[in-house]
Amino acid sequence: MNKNLINDAKIVLNNNFQDKGYSIPCKGLYPFQWKWDSGFIAIGFAHYDMDKAKKEIETLLDAQWENGFIPHIVFHVESDTYFPGPDYHQSELHPLSNKKHPSTGMTQPPVTGFTIEKIYEIAKDKTDGLEFVKRNIDKVFENHRYFYENRDPQNEGLVYIYHNWESGTDNSPIWDDIWKTMNPPTYNIKRKDTQLVDPSQRPSNREYDHYLHIIEIAKKHNYSDEKIAELSPFLVQDPLFNAMLIKSNNALINLYKLIGNNEAKIKQLEKWQEKSIKSFNDKLYDEELGAYIHYDLRNEKPLRFVSSSSFSPLFAGIPSKERAKRLVTTMMDKFGGEDLYLCASFDPESERFNPKKYWRGPVWINLNWILYYGLKDYGYNEIAERVKSDSIELIEKSGFYEYFDARKSIYKTDKGGYGGGNFSWSAALLIDLINN
Ligand code: SER
Repeated sequence: MNKNLINDAKIVLNNNFQDKGYSIPCKGLYPFQWKWDSGFIAIGFAHYDMDKAKKEIETLLDAQWENGFIPHIVFHVESDTYFPGPDYHQSELHPLSNKKHPSTGMTQPPVTGFTIEKIYEIAKDKTDGLEFVKRNIDKVFENHRYFYENRDPQNEGLVYIYHNWESGTDNSPIWDDIWKTMNPPTYNIKRKDTQLVDPSQRPSNREYDHYLHIIEIAKKHNYSDEKIAELSPFLVQDPLFNAMLIKSNNALINLYKLIGNNEAKIKQLEKWQEKSIKSFNDKLYDEELGAYIHYDLRNEKPLRFVSSSSFSPLFAGIPSKERAKRLVTTMMDKFGGEDLYLCASFDPESERFNPKKYWRGPVWINLNWILYYGLKDYGYNEIAERVKSDSIELIEKSGFYEYFDARKSIYKTDKGGYGGGNFSWSAALLIDLINN
């Protein structure tokens, strides 16, 4: 059974790999290279086609900006199936943007550091694997420097995101409170996504007004980090984003030690790391909820909601053993009911939970993958195995969808897989999970 599934996953990945050396997340809906998708996809390729894995990352890093920034979408080609494209984002407004590749002016969770470590770990030819790491590690280091020097105005070791698309969890109900503080104009745009996917599974038009409005403000100031920090109505310290940065810091420390002769960089990373982990635990943990939460830096208030992001710090070794225990209890109490697949993206007990709508409830394979490894690291093997087998079962039942309904009962009558089909990271991470 697993063998057929792995073959099917490889077909999805191979079909989504493009001549220019990167993968699209899926046909039509996402026709370019996305930053965090690239990392997960490369991990899948590493298990059976190392050249493609390495290429995926090197193509992404080729689009890095002169200030270390790595954009969230790289527009390698023209396409009329996606909005907003390069003409809207206009990355060239930023003086240090990449001169070869048009992109967005926002980023996505920093997964590239732990991706190159994973690729090295999976590589059978360790000499070649280390050469790959050596060629690319400084670029990732510069990306982390960018974050700490430009995205941490209060010098806390916690970096902010200035757009919901930077979180990766695009339309999470967590942002609803922020949208209430804004009143953007109605933009007359032609959505492309809702022509390709049932609109009930995608963000609303009003939500898109908010998304575009934040970009308008950033563009008006040529994507200046300083101006964005001063003016963006959306400025959030996101536990998922910061956990990915911390996990990647750790990967860079390990890899620099392996390479040798990089003491200054290791020292710098350790300094960032210590501060980040401390602030993360002090500021982003909610004792009453027993979970990590987001912090709204613009309006100076915690956003007290539990989502799958709340548990991602397990993956980065952030909580103490005791706190991890509490975290897992919260997860199982809220998300682990018998009638639910692990792990819904948003609190199933909340009135804001929507089992079909993108990041407002469905299960996502990348978050499950993060939770699987995090739970394993803390010794919660049984729950980790459930996350893994739930992920496999969902894909077996529905196919390689972008996201999945968490309610077991609906699969008797419905497909339960939503959004884009033949979705790359669902295929890639399934390969990694089965091989683990
Ligand atoms: N995922 C976003 C979209 O839906 C962009 O990153 O278009």
